[in-house]
Amino acid sequence: MYRTVGLDTKTRGLAPWMIAVIVVVGLLIAGITIGLLVYFSVSDQKLEYYHGTFKISDAQLNANTEQSYAYHYKDLREMSEILVDETFMDSNLNKHYIKNQVVKLTPEIDGMRADVVMVFQFPSNEKRETREKKIHNILHQKIRNTRALKINASSLQLNGCGKRVTPTIVNRIVGGEIAPKAAWPWQASLQHNNVHQCGATLISNTWLVTAAHCFKNNPTPNGWTVSFGTTINPPLMKRNIKRIVVHERYRSPAREYDIALVQLSPQVTFTEDVRRICLPDASDYFPPTSTVYITGYGALLYGGDSQNELRQAAVELISNEICKQPQVYGKEITYGMFCAGFLEGIYDACRGDSGGPLVVKDSTDTWYLLGIVSWGDNCGRVNKPGVYTQITYYRKWIASKTGL
Ligand code: ARG
Repeated sequence: MYRTVGLDTKTRGLAPWMIAVIVVVGLLIAGITIGLLVYFSVSDQKLEYYHGTFKISDAQLNANTEQSYAYHYKDLREMSEILVDETFMDSNLNKHYIKNQVVKLTPEIDGMRADVVMVFQFPSNEKRETREKKIHNILHQKIRNTRALKINASSLQLNGCGKRVTPTIVNRIVGGEIAPKAAWPWQASLQHNNVHQCGATLISNTWLVTAAHCFKNNPTPNGWTVSFGTTINPPLMKRNIKRIVVHERYRSPAREYDIALVQLSPQVTFTEDVRRICLPDASDYFPPTSTVYITGYGALLYGGDSQNELRQAAVELISNEICKQPQVYGKEITYGMFCAGFLEGIYDACRGDSGGPLVVKDSTDTWYLLGIVSWGDNCGRVNKPGVYTQITYYRKWIASKTGL
């Protein structure tokens, strides 16, 4: 009886207005929760900036007066921005496209070069290169068909990774040849007190990959600089180093973990001659006997001096099975290393090439960094090919330090 009365009172206590309040409060809580979830899943998508250039060919700046120049310039900029806006709003990337801005218009002999920065927001699971290709294709298609502006479609370039302007003409560092201008725009020279010590490879506008052993004697950024271009003197561009990240497990004289990252200050602006290379995925595989390229300012023979001019050589990947044979390197080849060169010798990296790139080209002429010049017995000797730090093995380590 007591129970019944109790229940009765409670039921009566929940007046309709109270139920309404409870429902409203419940809905509010649910709404806020959903809102927060949506907010966080959207803000998980970072803004991404893509830089592209193209040439507007009928845009001669016949400027007699400052004023007409300025007027024309503003017009062109606006027309270009509208064109890019339309391009992406009408494309299947419209949900990801945010905006664009023409950051530079440069008069050239037969037109104007437009530098555009495009902003997108993507979910973070797709490779940047894949997106770059999509963006490039969409722009290319539109530019070819547009009447609003006469744009040379083949002039379109998205400043992605691993692209260069010079075609490959490599015969075959030791036994190599001088590199043509802009052929290896990711190659850098690491210098201590202005003396070349090692090679390094540009992987973003601030980060380079190199070998850990380069910093054995000078582990702090003091005194270190990085230069770009096909000659050390004069350099095309020079930067200070603000941070050196040597692999925490590198212990000289052991040769495992021979990898380091270097951060530049200030960042570089990509040009035809200074560009980043692409990094492979950790799971990428490159079969033995593939032709790869090594570049560096290193010595031409064992005991020789570093060179002022960048050199290149084509070599072949050598399987671990072959490289671990007793007459080659046997047990000295351990995890995170691979061999490249020829068992007959001749073409090889040498002192001063350390830290520099071993690269490969895919079917779309995009270049990838596979190895870092690490060590070798002498240079170019029979059965003693070059040994390289394997980038795929350290791919996650690189990502963890640089976010790339
Ligand atoms: N460790 C050398 C350096 O400091 C480069 C070794 C490469 N040697 C070779 N035979 N592949 O520059």
